[in-house]
Amino acid sequence: MAIDVILGLQWGDEGKGKIVDYLAANYDIVARFQGGPNAGHTLKFDGKKFVLHTVPSGIFRPGLLNLIGNGVVIDPITLAAEIQKLEAAGVDYQGRLLLSRKAHLILPTHRYLDAASESAKGKSKIGSTLKGIGPTYMDKTGRNGLRVGDIKRSNFEERYRTLKEKHLSLLAIYPDFDFDLAEEEAKWMESLEVLLSLQQVDGEYFIHQALKDGKRILAEGAQGSMLDIDFGTYPFVTSSNTITAGVCIGLGVAPDKIGEVIGISKAYCTRVGSGPFPTEEDNELGERLRQEGGEFGATTGRPRRCGWLDLPQLKYTIMLNGVTQLAITKIDVLNNFESIQVATAYEIDGQLTEKLPYDICDVDIRPAYETHRGWVQSLDNITEYDNLPEAAQDYLQALEANLKVPISMISTGPERSKLIVKSVKVSV
Ligand code: GDP
Ligand code: IMO
Ligand code: MG
Repeated sequence: MAIDVILGLQWGDEGKGKIVDYLAANYDIVARFQGGPNAGHTLKFDGKKFVLHTVPSGIFRPGLLNLIGNGVVIDPITLAAEIQKLEAAGVDYQGRLLLSRKAHLILPTHRYLDAASESAKGKSKIGSTLKGIGPTYMDKTGRNGLRVGDIKRSNFEERYRTLKEKHLSLLAIYPDFDFDLAEEEAKWMESLEVLLSLQQVDGEYFIHQALKDGKRILAEGAQGSMLDIDFGTYPFVTSSNTITAGVCIGLGVAPDKIGEVIGISKAYCTRVGSGPFPTEEDNELGERLRQEGGEFGATTGRPRRCGWLDLPQLKYTIMLNGVTQLAITKIDVLNNFESIQVATAYEIDGQLTEKLPYDICDVDIRPAYETHRGWVQSLDNITEYDNLPEAAQDYLQALEANLKVPISMISTGPERSKLIVKSVKVSV
């Protein structure tokens, strides 16, 4: 057996939640392997909408197990709130939502450090979601972190206090930063009870055994490959490895256990937060994409920056991830565009290239565009690829030809049912 992977090929918000929720019906286990509550994965079905931050997007499929892997960072307050919403919706999650003991905990003071350090950066701020992600991963690699499995240990309170004190002394560097820890700390401690009510597992043994037992496993990525700590647009990135390699680290599986890698891209491109975005349309056109696509953050509500699809960028992330099939989402957002542009190369210092430059944050990149005709019609009620308008098929075929990876799914709306499945492959 192998683990299939779904991840974002751009700067996040590609529609991972929707595709994972749809495909979960083919799997026994869905596992998150990195990130934390900076993620916001939107699912829509039966007239209902859910936004998941830490809980894997397989939770609404009855009988399916959902693992929060060791690579994830967990804020007990956010997780407890998410669980409360599941309870209110009547979702039977007990026994189906598992936590890896090795997942690290986000403390309230991690969030404060995130906010204080961002505001001190002024104009060069990352645009972080301020969920404490960076400081928590820093404590993990700095070997100071607290893990889920530590909560039950007798010295937990002492270790919590030591880490908190360290954070408070760091926060003293930012005298203008105000916070009220007592209330948040009380909420945090209370929320630990919710964590303790969930089943804790040694995720690496759990996954290993599941594979031996022939279980079908889907790994769900958060953020996007261009936000990867090593390969993204550093320093405007998140603090985890968002690419396929992150699955091995974030779940404890060997590289030879990776099966299909489903890369998700919107039919255009967005980014939220600061940092380079070569095909950004910071103008009326971008505003039109934002309105048509409802491009406002699922976690922070911030307007997303919008622009055209960027093939050099996609080729880069397809290469990094070993993508075996593509899912193109939000194609319906282009329904009213008479013409659609796609960047096929970059012009840098008068030279054309298809490679992303090392100094992407500093150089002036002029994308070279190819223009495609739009279909200018609704795609509602189209469920078969062959029934898509000719111009939409031409657009998709041009992408396939350029990217050299088959498109297996095309998403035509936010609802679970709005998906054209062309030829999806699942490891068995
Ligand atoms: P994720 O973080 O990758 O799971 O994506 P988000 O949930 O943050 O953002 C995707 C947004 O687009 C959500 O509001 C989805 O409901 C919506 N969405 C997903 N697929 C489609 C689609 O094919 N068409 C349209 N119009 N909206 C979509
Ligand atoms: P999903 O899983 C889009 C961005 C933030 C910021 C940078 C660092 O929903 O696709 P962080 O909070 O990690 O310190 O922020 O990364 N970012 C995302 N952008 N979608 C996400 O998740 C994101 N998670 C983080 O906007 O620019
Ligand atoms: Mg999102």
